[in-house]
Amino acid sequence: MAEIVLKIKEISKSYRSRSRTVEVLDRISFCAEEGRSYAIAGESGSGKSTLLSILAGLQKPDGGSVLYKEKDIHSLKDAELAVLRRHDIVYVSQFQDVIPELNLAENVRIADCFDDRVAEDAQERTERILARLGLSDLKEELPENLSGGEIRRLTIARALYASPKILLLDEPTNDLDRVNRRIVTDTLRELSGQGITVLAATHDAELASAADEIIYMDRSLSESR
Ligand SMILES: Nc1ncnc2c1ncn2[C@@H]1O[C@H](COP(=O)(O)OP(=O)(O)OP(=O)(O)O)[C@@H](O)[C@H]1O
Ligand SMILES: [Mg+2]
Repeated sequence: MAEIVLKIKEISKSYRSRSRTVEVLDRISFCAEEGRSYAIAGESGSGKSTLLSILAGLQKPDGGSVLYKEKDIHSLKDAELAVLRRHDIVYVSQFQDVIPELNLAENVRIADCFDDRVAEDAQERTERILARLGLSDLKEELPENLSGGEIRRLTIARALYASPKILLLDEPTNDLDRVNRRIVTDTLRELSGQGITVLAATHDAELASAADEIIYMDRSLSESR
């Protein structure tokens, strides 16, 4: 059996604002295995993005824990969490965050700005990832000259460049046409083969059916294949 890389134990989360209290996650538990892919499905508002942001360490749950290598990620110091989020658990938001002043290839390699040494194969790796996602011809373009779907693929390329152990993707095929949805779905399938664990929140039935397992947020049911 593959190694368990992430243990999610009894995660609960509510949001309280002046007008309402929303109980979003109610004791969600599951384990994610190395090299396995998980689609997180459920209707809009069911808590998919909330779950991913907790797994990424961006917000704390009200209760429960997220264990990575037997350590609760929410007990780490900010600096430790920042390193973890750069190299191990990499998150791609549902909203498209890019740096407008940098071109596409520079955005993909933004993590290099934080490292003392840039890997020798950085250039070659960037080229390979851009080619895989059909972005090679656009590498010098600024984000303002790119379409929504191209920026979506750029954010995925940036995450791949980090060579993460766990990749968290929020709606990775949004804004994409059929051909590009297929490119992203196939790329994610390849990652599983490389031992990377993928968790993707999605409304895309095709992407969900390509995953090894579907986690349904509404019914707290998990369907394995
Ligand atoms: N910061 C917040 N403060 C208050 N309520 C929030 C906050 N973030 C999310 N919510 C509410 O929590 C619920 C779950 O939101 P979440 O974004 O996790 O859903 P989702 O399943 O990702 O939806 P979608 O498919 O539309 O992306 C929603 O009802 C939303 O309105
Ligand atoms: Mg969402």
